[in-house]
Order: sequence, then C-alpha cells, then structure tokens
Amino acid sequence: MPSVYIETYGCQMNVADSELMRGHLARSGYTAASDPAEADVILLNTCAIREHAEERIFGRLGTLAQYKLRKPHLQIGLAGCMAQHFRDRLLDRLDFVVGPDAYRRLPELLSGDPFVDVRLDREETYADIAPERGDGVRAWITIMRGCDKFCTFCIVPFVRGRERSVPASAVLEQVRDAAARGYREVVFLGQTVNAYRDGDTDFAALLRAADAIDGIERIRFTSPHPSDMSDAAIAAMASCAKVSPQLHLPLQSGSTPVLERMARGYTADEYLRLVERLRAAVPELALSTDIIVGFPGETERDFELTLELMRTVRYDSAFMFKYSRRDHTRAAKWDETVDEVDKTRRLQAVIALQEHVAAEINAGWIGREVEVLVEGPAKRPAGWLAGKTPQFKTAVLPAGAAHCGDLVRVRVADATAHTLIAAT
Ligand code: SAH
Ligand code: SF4
Ligand code: F3S
Repeated sequence: MPSVYIETYGCQMNVADSELMRGHLARSGYTAASDPAEADVILLNTCAIREHAEERIFGRLGTLAQYKLRKPHLQIGLAGCMAQHFRDRLLDRLDFVVGPDAYRRLPELLSGDPFVDVRLDREETYADIAPERGDGVRAWITIMRGCDKFCTFCIVPFVRGRERSVPASAVLEQVRDAAARGYREVVFLGQTVNAYRDGDTDFAALLRAADAIDGIERIRFTSPHPSDMSDAAIAAMASCAKVSPQLHLPLQSGSTPVLERMARGYTADEYLRLVERLRAAVPELALSTDIIVGFPGETERDFELTLELMRTVRYDSAFMFKYSRRDHTRAAKWDETVDEVDKTRRLQAVIALQEHVAAEINAGWIGREVEVLVEGPAKRPAGWLAGKTPQFKTAVLPAGAAHCGDLVRVRVADATAHTLIAAT
C-alpha cells in the first residue's frame, strides 16, 4: 500500500484539514508515514497568510526535493491556502497542487498524472468525511469554512472561498464521536466561527447543544469575529458549564481610522464595549488577540492607540504580526507607509508590553487553585506533566498520580508570562 506523509502549516483549520485528508486517504488505501524519507506521497498542507509563511514552505520544498533523487516515483505536492494562492504556477516543481475545497478528490487525483485542482466550491463542507484525529485530549472540529469578511489585508477569502457552515447534525455527531473516543475537550473552528448558522441553529444554539453532550468536559472555539459576537452567544458562553472562560478576540488595531481602512466592521470603542459585556457575563474570562503593526497609513499616533487599548484590555496573550502585503487584497494596492525599521520597532514594543502584562496577570494566579486538564509530559521540568487551565493557560505540575486526560486541581505556586507552575 502506498504511504503518505503530511506536514501541516498555518492555523488550526489546517490541522483539522490534515486530519480530514488522513482519514480520507486511509479509507482509500494509503497508510500514514511518520517520516518523509519513507513516504510515497509527501503533502505539505500550507498557509498563505503572510509572505514569511510562504517563504518557509519554499525552503522546505527545496529540502524535500532531495528524496526524489533516490525515489523517482515519489509524489510531492501542496494542499491548503498557498496551493490555492499559487494555483498552476507551481506545477513545474510539484506533482500535485490541491486547494482547500478539492480534498475529496485527492485519492483519485493521486493515482493519475500530475494535477492541479484549485476549484473553490461554495457547498463543500466535508460533512460526511470522518477525520483521523491525533492523539491527545483535544478534538478539533471545523464548523464552518471560508470567509466573507474581506478585511482589506487578508488573503483568506481568496484562498478559502465563501463562508459556509457544516450542518449542525454533523457537528454534534462529531462531538459525540470525539467523546466516545475519549477526547475530553472539543474546539470549534472557523475563520468567523461565531457567524455559524445552519437553518435555525445559530452559534449560540450550537454551543448549547454541544454543552448537553456527555463525556466532553470543555468546549472552546476560535476565532470569533468581534462584529458577529451576539448577545445570545455571550449568554450561551455564560450559561453553558462546559464552555471555557476563554476567548480569542482578534483586535488588529486600536485606532478606529485604521480599523476602518482594514474594513473590520467595528470601532475601537465598540470593541471595548464588547469586552466589557463579555467580562460582565463571563467571570474570570481570559482574553487573547491578534495585532497587526505597520498597516498602510498607520501613524505613530495610531500605533500608540493600539498600545493604549492593549493596556486597557490587558490581554492574557496575543499573536502580534508585522503587516505583510498579500496578492488580491485591497490593501495590496495601497502604498506601504511604514518602513521595515519602524515595523520592527512597533512589533517589539507591542511584544514587550504584552509580555509585561501577561506576567502580571499570571502572577495574580499565584496562591489560587486551578483545574488542569492534563495533556502529557511537560517540556520542563523533566518528569512533570503539562496541561491547560479553563483559561487556556499552560500549567505544569508534578507527575504524581495524574494521567493524560485527567482533570486535576492544583495550587499555583509560581508563574511566568506563559506558564503557571503548580506547588509540589
Ligand atoms: N479570522 C480571524 C483571523 C485569521 S488570520 C479574524 O478575523 O479574527 C490570523 C491573523 O493573522 C489575523 O487576525 C491577523 O492578525 C493576521 N494577519 C492576517 N493577514 C495578515 C497580513 N496580511 N499581514 C499580517 N498579519 C496578517
Ligand atoms: Fe481574514 Fe478578516 Fe476573514 Fe479574518 S475575518 S479571515 S482577518 S478576511
Ligand atoms: Fe493560513 Fe489558510 Fe489558516 S492562510 S492562517 S492556513 S486559513
């Protein structure tokens, strides 16, 4: 039987798509290879969000090409967002290029000549294709695909196509299946996950229905869009015992004129009001975010407003990026006004602020008890276990009698900006 090796880049949606492809290929007679040197097919599931992400893949392709010298029948190809972005421009170097809506045909395509399939499909949700999930305590469940927001910096709507929701019955079946297979946590995925709708079932209704399923201890979701965060969804978060008090709420910028040019659909003030509503409804809510610095036209004053908003909200964690110009997007037509030196300086400043705030927030947990869902061995200290608190903070604890998948209560004895350390 031929074997396939899959390497995943980008966001959790790609992690979930790789599991989907693994399941689909396994049922078509492919075995899984854990080493590219052993594989008959090497598939990189790729990301196109920033230029740097694509440069990494090109580098990796160069390295992998060497396996072809020893194994002429080896097929190397790309799936995912960068495959969709480059389409047929890469086929001279690759055996296949398959976009995010063409995975259903992958087994059939792999048995033929070199190919490109990058048709976007408004209907495809893969609802009937069971994923082959990884080990661990957490199951990723894609509940919607695509994005219709067209933020002016973002390539996702062009590479992932139009927004569509997975039928609620299929989502809930996946939750039940994950529970039956021993997963303790589910994470609902979508680029605008809270815009979910299947008939009468909106995102709030889906959370409530999932909350009622036995066997799952925690429910999370990512990424909600601030403009789609309804009162009903906030109420569901507050009242569903399994929905964790944690939210990734991408901000991008703290300046309203920049947010307008990004076409984000909210002002800085509206975002702050939303945070207030969320915090009033959900006790001990941890918030994380995404920030872009150096967007075209971002002045020093705009940038200071981002720092100010970060100081006001006090995020538990943040992903922070330099703006990267992307094909097809509206912002790609605008002059870049922030040079590399200033982008780097601004990025370092947001990172420094965020590290400082995160360390302070985590220090506030010292002396308190937290419930940790144990995931496996900690990287450090050796012999300890690591897991997540309800707030999605990494906690490390002495191994003791705990096992992977256990929920244990520990007292926090120390903390860094990224980790809570349990008492011995
Ligand atoms: N759907 C999510 C974002 C998904 S992309 C949302 O709208 O909230 C993840 C993050 O990558 C974005 O939040 C943004 O901060 C960053 N990003 C997207 N396009 C980018 C670009 N062109 N340059 C730099 N960062 C970008
Ligand atoms: Fe990109 Fe905006 Fe869609 Fe998020 S909401 S994926 S940033 S276009
Ligand atoms: Fe990247 Fe595609 Fe996700 S561009 S961030 S892998 S949706």
